[in-house]
Amino acid sequence: MIRTLRESLAASPLPRLEAQLLWQRVLDVPRAWLIAHDADPLQPAQLDAYRALEARRIAGEPIAYILGRREFFGRDFLVTPAVLIPRPDTELLVECGLRAIRDVRAPCVLDLGTGSGIVAVTLALERPDARVRATDRSAEALAVARKNACALGAKLLFSHGNWYDTELGSVRFDLIVSNPPYIDARDAHLGQGDLRFEPPDALTDGADGLRALREIVRGAPDHLGPGGILCVEHGWDQAAAVRSLFLRHGFADVASERDLSGIERVTRGCLQA
Ligand SMILES: C[S@@+](CC[C@H](N)C(=O)[O-])C[C@H]1O[C@@H](n2cnc3c(N)ncnc32)[C@H](O)[C@@H]1O
Repeated sequence: MIRTLRESLAASPLPRLEAQLLWQRVLDVPRAWLIAHDADPLQPAQLDAYRALEARRIAGEPIAYILGRREFFGRDFLVTPAVLIPRPDTELLVECGLRAIRDVRAPCVLDLGTGSGIVAVTLALERPDARVRATDRSAEALAVARKNACALGAKLLFSHGNWYDTELGSVRFDLIVSNPPYIDARDAHLGQGDLRFEPPDALTDGADGLRALREIVRGAPDHLGPGGILCVEHGWDQAAAVRSLFLRHGFADVASERDLSGIERVTRGCLQA
């Protein structure tokens, strides 16, 4: 019979780190506490609560949804099944956006498809002088983004709707960023692993994976000011196609940036003045 944390960790089929994260949630303690108290007797109710979380993980539910949290750019974000789980790759999109507005005072920024709000909130916190608007077609996702903005103290404007078809008014943005759904609807990975639990609308455009990117690039010139910059995240094999989209729609200085694995993951371009 399991009586202590040490015994529970040894018996768990989960990787040790995941089991520890679940125990942290059950006991509401930091990781160091688990190590210092691993021989303390556990209450039956605590063991029951842990087993319930462990069963969800064994059934495949992503750890971020079970915990309801995920770190991004050094900050802790609320995550629910209504939003994509933040990926470390997306930090490259934020870095690209921050570089794009480095020399612009009080920049106007638009984040299309904000999901949990990680990109918009991070840009607003890293550049407190920026005016940042975040949009999404999913009202549930926007509710999560609002909570994250509020919890982290970021002042954002929100609009609900299809890409540019929201209350954007006549503002011309200095920067448009987007991490749109870019997985081909026929990709078998959509039925595997964590992706099975994420909102389909956040993963795939229901077509070849470039449909959303085409709409975003095509619409950007009508919403960027002269010299404005568009930065988009895309799939590992889409960089060349995205660069030609940018060029076709009048962007200059078009270039793709590589993520930590060396994959071209983000493409940017500047609207010629
Ligand atoms: C890949 S997720 C990105 C979420 C978040 N920006 C991130 O990086 O974690 C794409 C987001 O685009 C939204 N979306 C999908 N189609 C859309 C559309 N036609 N108009 C606006 N938003 C859309 C989804 O609801 C989802 O939140």
